[in-house]
Amino acid sequence: MDTNFSDLKKSKPRVLIVENNPTTRVAYQSLLMEWGYTPILAMGTGKLLLTDAKNKAFNNRCSLALIDLRIIDDDDEKDISGLTLAEEMGENLRPIILSGYENFNALRTMLQKHVEIEFVRKTESRDLLQKTLDTEAAKVTAARRKLVFENPEVLDEIAKSPLGKNTREYPDQIADVFAKLFPKATKLKLEKLELRPASSNISTVPRPNSVVLKVYEGDYEPYVVKLARTEKIQKEVDNYNNHIHRRLTGYFSARLERSATLWDIGGAAYSYVGEFDVKTFSRYYEEKTIPDIEECLTLFFGRIWGRHYEHAWEKDNVSLFKLYSQVWDNWYEKRKDDFFAGHFNGSDMFSKRLNIPEPVKWFREKIAESPNDLSLVEKTRIAITHGDLHGDNLLVDNKKNVWVIDFERCGEGHILQDFVELEADIFNRLEEHNDNFPAYFKMCFTVLKQEKIHEFDASETMSEDPRIEKALQTISALRALAAQHTKITDAREYLYGLLFNMMFRAAMIHKSDPHRKDQRSLLLAGLICDRLDHWDVPWPLAEMSLA
Ligand SMILES: Nc1ncnc2c1ncn2[C@@H]1O[C@H](COP(=O)(O)OP(=O)(O)O)[C@@H](O)[C@H]1O
Ligand SMILES: [Mg+2]
Repeated sequence: MDTNFSDLKKSKPRVLIVENNPTTRVAYQSLLMEWGYTPILAMGTGKLLLTDAKNKAFNNRCSLALIDLRIIDDDDEKDISGLTLAEEMGENLRPIILSGYENFNALRTMLQKHVEIEFVRKTESRDLLQKTLDTEAAKVTAARRKLVFENPEVLDEIAKSPLGKNTREYPDQIADVFAKLFPKATKLKLEKLELRPASSNISTVPRPNSVVLKVYEGDYEPYVVKLARTEKIQKEVDNYNNHIHRRLTGYFSARLERSATLWDIGGAAYSYVGEFDVKTFSRYYEEKTIPDIEECLTLFFGRIWGRHYEHAWEKDNVSLFKLYSQVWDNWYEKRKDDFFAGHFNGSDMFSKRLNIPEPVKWFREKIAESPNDLSLVEKTRIAITHGDLHGDNLLVDNKKNVWVIDFERCGEGHILQDFVELEADIFNRLEEHNDNFPAYFKMCFTVLKQEKIHEFDASETMSEDPRIEKALQTISALRALAAQHTKITDAREYLYGLLFNMMFRAAMIHKSDPHRKDQRSLLLAGLICDRLDHWDVPWPLAEMSLA
């Protein structure tokens, strides 16, 4: 389907017709065509009709449905199969239930349970049916709302983006998500957010699977709308409701105001955090000095997220690998073939030169596919973690308030996870601009050698390279906060987390750029493996040559 977002009025919403009487079915079909809809007919009788209805609704990404209340048995007063079908199709499809015979009591019960579902008697006039359909269609389709987008080209861009491609031949869903998110709007203005902040380096691997916009409705304060695949939005909304809403101290998280999902994509509307000159933590980190950075981190881990650490609990015999895998959607299983593919530009070069383990192999044999998973710990602590705490998911305003966003991976996790992740992000940021290998190695040694988690000595954070010095000081602050709030002391738990982050990143980089060599993340991973192999002896070993 070709959707012209600047002239949506011409598009004809797809309406599923589920009616067991073939004559009536065709009668509805011609009415709908006359009224400017695209009718989609479910065929067959009985259970087959129900199955066909579900298939066609999905295959055609229908927006609405006219559903006969009694689909299975016309003579059975208790048959409410049409309503059940409507319930099963959920939010994707706005149903209008048609009923021929009245059983007043049954109808009343249904109405009490489903105030939101429209019922029309089959004996009612055509005009009433048309009016009802138009009203319902205006709730869920931009076309029938006559919703005007001030800058429809933004929608065209989304339709062409990797996210938009998920809508296949039905990109009208993109406009309809906005119609559902803004049920009263007649006009919307979309503005692109400066997405991946133009800080001087590539921070994390881009994940082009979401689009974030600032959306203006009349003279209301704008919302930030995140569009993503339906399952992603549903997950984020559930996580928000379970772990963020009323569960963080203070009000320093973007407020989820509304959400809406369709067949392929959905949207979540957040309050805009930005009135006070907000920047991402990534940028803040680049621009500010250590005391400011430390203050932000202390606020976030100590107060805002602190409540989740206070409510942490102990768990025995935990494979840290498995724990992180749960949070990261089973990443290793999905990516391992890449790691072991012939063309993978692993870290052989580093490993041979430095005489340290080849991390991909080490990781597979000692952890991921090992019967004696090294990352199994006798006891650790579990907390609600953010799960994706990199520098673009924290925002800092000019009053030094820290705001947290992006809750797609929020849930139960290793209590150290968010500290580790932010630390990994700081490492990743060094990548682009750092050719000073001796200083980089020295940093790695400082970071990897400690046995107990604690801040570094002032002498250890000094470096001839100012970027590295800043990274070390920030990591030192993170370690101090981790020790204070997680009550985990053994630094190996930290190193496993860091190792998983580096392996995960290596896999992601490989996915987006299979030919990239010389991965810094694998170098760090190899050093971590070496450190873990020599836990009880002074490290680094003398034979590690800093070629
Ligand atoms: N509520 C908000 N207020 C201001 N800026 C936001 C808000 N939500 C997101 N952003 C900006 O959009 C970017 C991406 O949003 P995010 O929710 O992290 O989506 P993604 O899943 O694509 O990472 C953020 O890094 C931030 O710059
Ligand atoms: Mg994000």
